[in-house]
This record gives sequence, C-alpha cells and structure tokens, in this order.
Amino acid sequence: MPYPLLLEILTFVSQRRGIDFRDYRRDTLRRRAQSRVRATGCTDLAAYRSFLVTDREEVDRLIETLVVPVTEFFRDAWTFRELDRRVLPILAARNAPIRAWVIGAATGEEAYTLAMLLAEASMRGTGSGFEMIASDLDRRSLEVARAGVYPAAAAVGIPHELYPRYFRSDGSGIRIVDSLRNRIQFAQHDLVGPSLAPQEAIVAAFDIVLCRNVLLYFDAALRAKALARLAGVLEPGAVLMIGHSELLPGESERHFQPYPGAKAGAGILVRRES
Ligand SMILES: C[S@@+](CC[C@H](N)C(=O)[O-])C[C@H]1O[C@@H](n2cnc3c(N)ncnc32)[C@H](O)[C@@H]1O
Repeated sequence: MPYPLLLEILTFVSQRRGIDFRDYRRDTLRRRAQSRVRATGCTDLAAYRSFLVTDREEVDRLIETLVVPVTEFFRDAWTFRELDRRVLPILAARNAPIRAWVIGAATGEEAYTLAMLLAEASMRGTGSGFEMIASDLDRRSLEVARAGVYPAAAAVGIPHELYPRYFRSDGSGIRIVDSLRNRIQFAQHDLVGPSLAPQEAIVAAFDIVLCRNVLLYFDAALRAKALARLAGVLEPGAVLMIGHSELLPGESERHFQPYPGAKAGAGILVRRES
C-alpha cells in the first residue's frame, strides 16, 4: 500500500476531526485502512480516498477502525491482581484520596475495573476514597463508557464477589451501579495532542495512571513524546501501568523503573526521582 496515499487520507482525517494519526505505526495503519477498503467495496486505496471525501460518515468509521477500541473488564486479570496486592494497599493507606487517570479508556471497562479495585482498597485502608478521570481519543467509545451499560457476556471476567456490589442486570445486559459510575469523569483527550491533561482534570499530578495498550500503536518518536508527558503528570513514587506485553523504549528508563516487588511483565512501573 503506497504510504503517500495513506498519508493523504490521514491528513484528511486530521483536518476533519483534529485527530492526527500520522505518527502512529505504519504497519498497523496500513492493515486497518485496508480493512476499510475491503468493507466499503473499494477496489484500492485511491478509490477509497475518493469515497472517504464524499461519504459523510466514513471518516468516523475509519477513525473507529484506526483506534482499535478493544477492551474488557479485568483484562489480563493477573496484572490487576498484582496491582491490587502490591500497589493499592500502599496508596489506600494514606490520608488523602487516590488520584487516578485512565488513558485510552475506550468503552470504559478498564476504568470501571480500576474504580472497583480502588473503592475496595479504600474501604480496607483509611477510607479516603479516590478521584478518577478516564479519557480517550474516540468520542463514540466514550459515549458507551459514560452510559456504563454492557452486554451480559462482558461479565465473564468480573470476580464473583464484586459483581453484586457494582453491577445490576439491565434488560439483556449489565449496568454499572450509579454510585460507581458517578465517581468517574470521562473526557475526550488526545494523549499526544495540544493539552497535557484533560481540561476536566482537577489536579496536575496523579498517584496512578493506566495507559495500557495505547503506546504500542505509536511510532518510536511519538511513544517517547507520550512517555515524557506521562512523566510530567506523575511525581516521583507515583505509578504508571502499561500493557503487560508492551515494551518501552530504553529512554523511558530515565523516567520509570519496574515497581519494586511487582511481577516482571505486569507492566507496573514507578516514576523515578528526576
Ligand atoms: C486497544 S484500546 C486499549 C483499551 C484499554 N486501555 C485496554 O487496555 O483494555 C486502545 C485505546 O487507545 C485509544 N487511543 C489511541 N490513541 C490515543 C491517543 N493519542 N490519546 C488517547 N487515547 C488514544 C484508542 O481510542 C483506544 O480506545
């Protein structure tokens, strides 16, 4: 697939929706764009480009394909167990609310997962509670996240003891209880866009940031930019959790090191002293 043509398409998306994918990994972009070429019945990328500029809804469908909003409750459950065991008791032992930010929250399952664990840890700790903001680039995913309603099949990974406390049946699906849902502020925000944090964020420094399975879509330079930003909103000792299979570039060691005692590969890091 010729990159200049793809670049034209990405420039069009950026002009239309203000989302800039040009520094995302080319192999992923190519694969994803190709799937839209097939889905729209276009013969090739050139035909798809013409289709894109004339069909009002295709730009949003393309964005949806490029952002990969795939997620689930307690995704990679062992990494959350590790977080719950090693990190949350320490955060919950302080006499201040835990300040959390979930980046690339997609349709919200991950933010609700962390919120359940924080609520539980807080009850076991000093009871100071937590404040959470969850953000994503993709507005459509955020609408689902805000509603907090999911198909029944989404309940598969949710621990049995947590389900009755935080979920209700809703027709043929499941719904997050309002007392949990209302504790998360969902906001549209681009991790590598003009503003460091969502406008809705009431604090500039967080105790814990989740940015799982987001950085892997960026090319090396964009990943380095994102990491510098993450370092900017975390004070020394604060926690960053990335996807368990994600490898960070060597330069990230300047800002982060593995969380002491956490299993290797869990993606749990701590901000170094600068
Ligand atoms: C594969 S999903 C990961 C969802 C969740 N974090 C998880 O691990 O289950 C990647 C998410 O990152 C979001 N994303 C991609 N680029 C982003 C950016 N520059 N800023 C914020 N979110 C972004 C996408 O919209 C998508 O919802």
